[in-house]
Amino acid sequence: MKLTVVGGGSTYTPELVDGFARLRDTLPVGELVLMDPAQDRLDLVGGLARRIFARQGHPGRITTTTDLDRAVDGADAVLLQLRVGGQAAREQDETWPLECGCVGQETTGAGGLAKALRTVPVVLDIADRVRRNNPHAWIIDFTNPVGIVTRALLQAGHKAVGLCNVAIGLQRKFAALLGVEPWEVHLDHIGLNHLTWETGARLGGPEGEDVLPKLLAEHGDRIAADLRLPRPLFDRLGVVPSYYLRYYYAHDEVVRELGTKPSRAAEVAAMERQLLTMYADPALDEKPALLAKRGGAYYSEAAVDLAAALLGGGGTPYQVVNTYNRGTLPFLPDDAVIEVQAAVGAKGASPLPVPSVDPLFAGLMANVTTYEDLALQAALHGGRTRVFRALLSHPLIGQYEYAEALTDRLIAHNREHLAWA
Ligand code: G6P
Ligand code: MN
Repeated sequence: MKLTVVGGGSTYTPELVDGFARLRDTLPVGELVLMDPAQDRLDLVGGLARRIFARQGHPGRITTTTDLDRAVDGADAVLLQLRVGGQAAREQDETWPLECGCVGQETTGAGGLAKALRTVPVVLDIADRVRRNNPHAWIIDFTNPVGIVTRALLQAGHKAVGLCNVAIGLQRKFAALLGVEPWEVHLDHIGLNHLTWETGARLGGPEGEDVLPKLLAEHGDRIAADLRLPRPLFDRLGVVPSYYLRYYYAHDEVVRELGTKPSRAAEVAAMERQLLTMYADPALDEKPALLAKRGGAYYSEAAVDLAAALLGGGGTPYQVVNTYNRGTLPFLPDDAVIEVQAAVGAKGASPLPVPSVDPLFAGLMANVTTYEDLALQAALHGGRTRVFRALLSHPLIGQYEYAEALTDRLIAHNREHLAWA
C-alpha cells in the first residue's frame, strides 16, 4: 500500500508516522511518500520519520519529494495537511479581525474565511493532479477549514473525506474519565467541522447505553474546565460542545483574552522552531513530547483508522468524518458537508441516522452552513462582493460595518495569495 502526505514537511508529520508505525497491523503501509515544496523541511522531517520506522521495526519505505505528480503516482490514498502561507499567514488571520472586535482564529470567523480563500484553489489543483495520475486514490483532507475544503473537493467530484481530531480527542477524554477503553465509547457527534456537539456517549456502539448524563453529573466540572466554558452551560444544554463553540458561547471573553497575549500562530511558530531543531538530532528516533502541545493529538490514529477503512482493510466500523449531508440533518441542504458518525468502507462514508436535533444547535448549524456555502463561492470565484457576503452571513460578524471593514482587511492581508485581488 502506498500513501502520500502532501504537506509532509509539516512538524506534525512525526505524529502521523508514529501512528503508522504503531498501528501497522491496521494499516500496512508499504511506501510512505512525504511531499512538500520545502526541501529543507523534508530533509529534517524525512530523516526523523525513517528513524521512527526503523526504531519500531516497520518494514515500510519512506521517500521524500518536492514533485507532486511523482508523489501521488500510484498512491492508494493521499493525505492533505498543508497550510498555504504557513504560520505567517495564520498569524494575520488571528490578528486583524480583532481590530473590529471579532474573534481572530484560524478556522472560525473572518480568519477562517481568509484561510479558505487561500486554500481552496490550491487544494483543488492538487486534487486534479491526484485524479489525473491516479483516479482511484482516496483523498483524506485534514487541511483546514476542513468543512469548506471538503465541500469544494466533493463538489468537484473528487473521492474525498474530511477529517478532524476533535471527536477522537473527546472520545479519549471521556474514556479516561469513565475508566474504559477508547474504542468502547461511541460518541453521538453532530454538527459541522469545528461546530460540533456531543449529544450522547454510548458504551459499546451506536445502540449502547448513553452514559453522557452520568459523565456530566460526575465529571462535569472537569469537562467544563478543560473546554474553558462555564459549568452551568453544560447543565442547560445537556450536551458537550466542542472547544470551538467557545468562540460562539464566550465570543467577547475570547476577544478580550486574545487582545492580551501573543497569537496561537506565534506560539506555534516558536514550537516549530524548537521541534525542527530536535528533528535534526540523529539520535532522536521517536516523536518528541513537545508535539503533544500542538492541537493535533490523536490525529494519526484517526487518519490510520480512516485510511484503513477506505482502503478496505479494516479500521473501526464507525468513524466521525466530514462528508455530504444527503438528508442526514434534514434542516440542511443535501450538499452541505457535515461532521457526524459514518459507516466507512471501500465505497466511502455513509452517515449514520441522527435523531431529531435541538433547534438551538440546528439553527446555528444552518447559519454556519450558509456562511460555508458563501465562503466557498468566494473562494471559487473571488471578488470583493462575495467576500463581503460571506462575512456578513457569519453569525459572529453579522453587522454591515464590521463586514465592510473586515472585507478590506482580508483582501489587503491576503493579496499575494488571491489570484483575483
Ligand atoms: C485541532 C484541530 C485542527 C487544528 C489544530 C490546531 O487539532 O482539530 O483542525 O489544525 O487543532 O492546532 P495548533 O497546535 O496548530 O494550534
Ligand atoms: Mn480540526
